[in-house]
Amino acid sequence: MKRKTIYILSVILINTISLYAQTLQNPYARHATSLNGKWQVIVDPFNSGAGNWKPVWKDQQPTNNNEFYEYAFTNSITLEVPGDWNHQKPELVYYESTVWYKKTFAYTQHGNNKVFLYFGAVNYQCDVYINNQLAGSHEGGFTPFQFEVTSKLKDTNSVIVRVNNQRKPDNIPAMNYDWWNYGGITRDVLLIETPATYIADYSIGLAKNNYDSIKGWVQLAGDNITQPVNLQIPGLAVNTTITPGDDGRAWFATAAKPALWQPGNPTLYKVKLKAGADTVNDNIGFRNIAVNGTDILLNGKPVFLKGINIHEEIPQQRRRAFSQADAMQLLLQAKELGCNFVRLTHYAHNEHMVRLADSLGIMLWEEVPLWQGIQFTNLAILNKADTMLKEMISRDKNRCAIILWSLSNETSATPARTQTLTAMAKFVRSIDDTRLVTSAINNAKVEDNNVTINDSLCTVLDVIGVNQYLGWYVPWPATPSAMVWHNPYNKPLIMSEFGAESLYGNHGSAQSNGYWAEEREEQVYKDQVAMFNNIPFLRGTCPWVLADFRSETRLQPVYQQGWNRKGLLSDKGQKKKAWYVMHAYYAGK
Ligand code: GCU
Repeated sequence: MKRKTIYILSVILINTISLYAQTLQNPYARHATSLNGKWQVIVDPFNSGAGNWKPVWKDQQPTNNNEFYEYAFTNSITLEVPGDWNHQKPELVYYESTVWYKKTFAYTQHGNNKVFLYFGAVNYQCDVYINNQLAGSHEGGFTPFQFEVTSKLKDTNSVIVRVNNQRKPDNIPAMNYDWWNYGGITRDVLLIETPATYIADYSIGLAKNNYDSIKGWVQLAGDNITQPVNLQIPGLAVNTTITPGDDGRAWFATAAKPALWQPGNPTLYKVKLKAGADTVNDNIGFRNIAVNGTDILLNGKPVFLKGINIHEEIPQQRRRAFSQADAMQLLLQAKELGCNFVRLTHYAHNEHMVRLADSLGIMLWEEVPLWQGIQFTNLAILNKADTMLKEMISRDKNRCAIILWSLSNETSATPARTQTLTAMAKFVRSIDDTRLVTSAINNAKVEDNNVTINDSLCTVLDVIGVNQYLGWYVPWPATPSAMVWHNPYNKPLIMSEFGAESLYGNHGSAQSNGYWAEEREEQVYKDQVAMFNNIPFLRGTCPWVLADFRSETRLQPVYQQGWNRKGLLSDKGQKKKAWYVMHAYYAGK
């Protein structure tokens, strides 16, 4: 990639930090009306409704005997929102194209309040129309977005959303990824009302490597953005009033010695913000995360990350997870395994998941979906990656559970990829220096009984994530306990993926991969643990994966049937033999 392109990218990454449209911080604490529930839909496989010939977004009704409209919502089928469409209608299980959604709602204007239409996520691309006028569009299936609709609202309103989940070479992720391409309005939809001047955003946390000073900023927006802001943390006797600059941003730093958030004692403090007529309350934990040589330090003490990989899916119902109850199921399954850490793969999960991890004391790795085949020489893609990174960090920057931002998964170590991810790492640190930067690479070099980490990307990471499938995709070259790992970067290593497949209840040889026997998966885990015990710089392990999950690429007719079977749990939540190996390993840590 030409240096010029990289320069342009780094300029884009840095200079648009305050220009991009982020969403209201902590939407669930706002005055919000939920638009969840049944939405009317039109399935539009050839995307015919987007043009002027059959403009679905005009939602026209016949006005004379000559007119008729085939694309009509009246008496149409409905889909539940939030929710992917794939699990709601048998004919949509593999559907990858356009669905039009419509919801009507009444609204009463309150003074000069502002109104925002907020989406937790839509996969993959969407255009949003309010009362038949385009409010805006969004690309990216796993981060929130919003449009101000104040001036477009009437007493009775319609919102029409065109959702398309076709795979495209310049999408992120691109064409062929190992999870189900669930399409639809997959997370909450809220109509949020704020006063004319409102608290748009804030960032509050311990100063880096500091335990007695809380600092951050509060961003006002709207009519009077320089009015004073009151910040209270009652549990710490903090009550301070701060004044924004001309840009509406009020910075602060205040003495405080909070009880430190950590697994086993996930202390959260109520934070109360007030500016004029707007108040926003949040629950925020305070902790420090850092590295020292090959150690990861939580609040200054070395920690071992007893992790698990989790997809945003409820396998029992073959659907995207989206609710607090879903988050509770998945994180309690992680806790039952003995985890203090979860890698949210391969994209930002819904906000309920991240907030629950704060409450349960589970540390998180969160990542953008730069998964394998990404065209790093395509500037349009780099802009999309930059937007997804910003939207993820903007939404979750106050969630102390998140200790790692990850830039990619198994991307090929080309110069363009390394230069791009290097620029992204620099950008992440420029907006959040309180967390660690990592990436999952899968190119550790296996030679006889040696495994050597060798990827120049590691020079810009704080923590190295290595995915390896010794025993499954790669035969053991030597006795597992005789494997020797080499880490020339002298940085902490997280084994970010490892494992094997088995079909729950299917039993057979522990030596053969070909029959999906539980005993084989169990043996691979025993061998991996034997190897782990000889890696002096190993600071975390994440089995791939908590539960069997849906994938269009896993079609072995007897054992897979559209499921990736590397779960420690079956798709019904049953513990396979390998589950007990990891449970014992974590119990011994
Ligand atoms: C890869 C990838 C996962 C995938 C897994 C597998 O490492 O990161 O998304 O599901 O391997 O092959 O099962």
